[in-house]
Amino acid sequence: MTDLYAVIGNPIGHSKSPMIHMAFAQQTGQDIQYIPVEAPVGGFAAEVEELRSRGGRGLNITAPFKLDAYACATELTERARQAGAANCLSFEGDRVVAENFDGVGLARDIETNLSCPMRGRRILLLGVGGAARGAIPAFLERAPAELVVANRTAEKAHTLGKQFSCLGNLVATGFDALHEGHAGRFDLVVNATSASLHGELPPVRAALLADAALAYELAYGKGLTPFLRLAREAGVQRLADGVGMLVEQAAEAFAWWRGVRPDTRAVIERLTVPLV
Ligand code: ATR
Repeated sequence: MTDLYAVIGNPIGHSKSPMIHMAFAQQTGQDIQYIPVEAPVGGFAAEVEELRSRGGRGLNITAPFKLDAYACATELTERARQAGAANCLSFEGDRVVAENFDGVGLARDIETNLSCPMRGRRILLLGVGGAARGAIPAFLERAPAELVVANRTAEKAHTLGKQFSCLGNLVATGFDALHEGHAGRFDLVVNATSASLHGELPPVRAALLADAALAYELAYGKGLTPFLRLAREAGVQRLADGVGMLVEQAAEAFAWWRGVRPDTRAVIERLTVPLV
């Protein structure tokens, strides 16, 4: 019997998830159907019920429903609990299990696909929104020498710092304090703000990026964003956008649901837009 899965968001027309999961299914011989669902804001729970009544087995969640997905779960994995948001649900009888693969997908892309190990490295993460919150536990698990999280609204950084400090060596700060004494200190700089979605540059100075081996933009398919342009001008050796993270988090979800891990390389290549 064909098993039904979906991705839900608003809007959802842009989603690459159906293509990614169907490519994984073909590659691994899994019999699944995977559909996009656009729910009205406030209509998440009703769509979940509809999907479950149709025999749906799982759901990927994109903006703006990751908090709704977290709230509707009957069980949370540790990663979903730490992130305070879910990007994946598994329907198992009466149980609705919530997971969050954003952080592990990002970390796998950086370490495995981009050959940039985090252990012992100095990492700068920009932003404290949902995307950054997923990344922090996954980064700290890999034992960097230092993880500095900087945010435009310093207060939010401080709150987040208190919440995550028990997980490892984390410094949380506003951008002004960041620029005092940190120039050229980072091996890896990750932009998890939503600035690029509006064609904006987070207020970070080129000197901060100068020694980095990798600058990583979480947004994908947008070519050379203002952040990546700044990184290139600063002389950063390697630039990447979030296409690999997108595919890696999908692979984690697929493996969780189906018990078989797909190969991601060909799918990443298919979706990659040159950074020009
Ligand atoms: P998401 O869930 O996609 O991470 P979010 O929760 O709305 O989105 O968080 C957006 C993040 O991007 C925040 O850290 C935000 O900073 P503030 O907390 O100060 O609002 C950051 N952000 C958005 N636009 C930005 C910009 N132009 N410059 C710097 N940071 C920006």
